[in-house]
Amino acid sequence: MADLGVTIAGVRFKNPIVLGSATPTMNWQCLKKGIAGGAGAGILKSLFGDSGKAGRRYPRPRFKLYDYKNYPGYPRKLPRSFTLHSLEDCSGYGYEAYMEDVNRAKEAVQDNGVVMASLSGATLEEWETMCSMVNETGADWVELNLSCPYAADMGIKMGAGAVDLAPAVTAACARILKKPFSVKISPQAGDPIAIAKKVESAGAHAINLAARLSGIMIDIDTARPVGWGSLGGYGGPYLLGYGLKWVSQAARVLSIPIIAGLGVWEWQDIIRYTMVGAHLVQSATAIMLQGYSVSSKWAEQINTWLDQKGYSSISEIRGIALEHIKTTAEVERCPEGVFARVNEQLCDRCGVCVRSCFYDAIKLTKGGAVVNRDKCDGCGLCAEVCPTGAAVLNG
Ligand SMILES: Cc1cc2nc3c(=O)[nH]c(=O)nc-3n(C[C@H](O)[C@H](O)[C@H](O)COP(=O)(O)O)c2cc1C
Ligand code: SF4
Ligand code: SF4
Repeated sequence: MADLGVTIAGVRFKNPIVLGSATPTMNWQCLKKGIAGGAGAGILKSLFGDSGKAGRRYPRPRFKLYDYKNYPGYPRKLPRSFTLHSLEDCSGYGYEAYMEDVNRAKEAVQDNGVVMASLSGATLEEWETMCSMVNETGADWVELNLSCPYAADMGIKMGAGAVDLAPAVTAACARILKKPFSVKISPQAGDPIAIAKKVESAGAHAINLAARLSGIMIDIDTARPVGWGSLGGYGGPYLLGYGLKWVSQAARVLSIPIIAGLGVWEWQDIIRYTMVGAHLVQSATAIMLQGYSVSSKWAEQINTWLDQKGYSSISEIRGIALEHIKTTAEVERCPEGVFARVNEQLCDRCGVCVRSCFYDAIKLTKGGAVVNRDKCDGCGLCAEVCPTGAAVLNG
């Protein structure tokens, strides 16, 4: 059995799986269930400062799933690409009740899991008040959340709308906090990596990257926004590549650990984030749709994979993909001898490749699709769309 344990800032996590701050961590009872489900840690839903207290009450209903239930085989099979759109801002608690909930969470999970509190202020005074209060709780870790995709839409300087203040907030909170802390940065910033660097210099023990985007959907029959009538958090497993990009870029320049997370849907995604440098990997959407017990399934699957590959611990794969990531300037352009080929035995003449070949290099014949090598650019789109595997790119 490989060692899945991770230690950062002196805190030991039994595995790298973190319940992201969201509905599944709305209170101590939920966090307890999440740790029992196999996660190494849980970030409680964020406490908003009083300026954002409107966010403590939620619209009903507040979740929309696009391209989810219509997936063939649902609910036995779940799609990999879909959108979760929601408006559920922060914890329903005020300051005192939140701190009490943090204490109860720690009492409930004891040493079986790491309890992480999450704070989000709109003024320095709010940040400072919350930091002083959280110091007196049993939280093992504190997260400063500057990532909420829609808090600023309330007309206050908060969440993603305040990410430019992250270095100043970090410095102010670092002076007060007596616990290790991470800073969660929205990727919806001009240069999130530059901000992450400044946050590191200001004293953060870890960075949490990357949060969801915000979005809106329009119902064309009513000409109104779908759901609650405003923008909301907009994300899903399709954003995995976006998160991997930010984490890989941050890992190159930061010395402090990264808590990664965006678009995690299966155990392989946790390995992917680790390979681009993450120490911990959080999940919200997958926990919401696959249930708490998916964490223990993931931990088992990661363990089996590490064993099969001959790794004795998760730390051995941390960052191993980084050296293979090129800049776009380094990518080889126009290599010679790359062409498509069609295996006539597999071709069912569906014509899908023909409509996607913009070089006019494929024709349908009675025997199947045929590639004209003089016209073929080797772009590879035909192989990507071919449903039977008949079209391949092999030069
Ligand atoms: C319903 C919902 C509520 C959320 N609430 C919070 C929150 O209170 N604090 C926070 O930092 N992030 C919050 N998030 C963001 C998640 O922690 C996470 O960063 C984001 O969903 C991306 O991860 P995922 O792709 O695994 O869902 C919330 C996400 C969802 C879906
Ligand atoms: S590789 Fe590109 S150019 Fe060549 S046949 Fe396929 S789609 Fe056309
Ligand atoms: S997409 Fe594939 S199966 Fe369909 S015509 Fe082209 S090669 Fe044949």
